[in-house]
Amino acid sequence: MNMKICRLREWQLADASSLAEQADNFKIWLNLRDALPHPYTEEHARQFISNAAAMPRPHRLMTIDVDGKAIGSIGITPHIDVERISAELGYFIGEKYWNRGITTEAIREMTAYAFNNFPLLKIYATPFGHNIASQRALQKAGFELEAILKRAAVKNGQVVDMHYYSIFKEEPGP
Ligand SMILES: CC(C)(COP(=O)(O)OP(=O)(O)OC[C@H]1O[C@@H](n2cnc3c(N)ncnc32)[C@H](O)[C@@H]1OP(=O)(O)O)[C@@H](O)C(=O)NCCC(=O)NCCS
Repeated sequence: MNMKICRLREWQLADASSLAEQADNFKIWLNLRDALPHPYTEEHARQFISNAAAMPRPHRLMTIDVDGKAIGSIGITPHIDVERISAELGYFIGEKYWNRGITTEAIREMTAYAFNNFPLLKIYATPFGHNIASQRALQKAGFELEAILKRAAVKNGQVVDMHYYSIFKEEPGP
């Protein structure tokens, strides 16, 4: 039997303390954009959840729920203008939940949801070169390495590569 280990659902204000508990982690900050505050407080969490709730539907941002607890976040940023057929995917989960396959499952689910609900042909993510766990989760979820963007970002004072992983919407059969 194929048991689900997580589900994606809407963020609720009641998730703020759990979100702050998971996100207030230097190892998580080190792998995300500087837009993520560090330290990460419950006030940051409430603001994030209020912003998520105010976004138009379909959902761009969801929580990764394990046994009723919000243990992480996953979302897409659809692009505009000529790039409106593509979206960037981003995610993190609390450290105590790492390496159980949760993110792989969440990426699969978010990707399917996004292709079904947005006019997208392509979804991509750009983990830093050193972020093997994220690259591995993307590979397991069906993404392929399309390019290495050399020296494309600076994080924590280090210039880093970004590995551009992508997946395309399947064309309907004949
Ligand atoms: C990246 C992250 C989301 C992965 O979540 P996760 O739920 O642990 O991912 P999964 O368990 O689905 O897959 C991780 C895989 O990487 C592997 N892995 C982890 N660290 C590794 C390492 N240093 N070397 C090789 N493989 C590694 C795991 O063993 C697992 O692969 P396996 O199932 O084949 O054994 C999580 O580590 C995280 O939140 N990190 C901080 C934020 C972040 O990096 N976000 C993504 C930005 S692009």
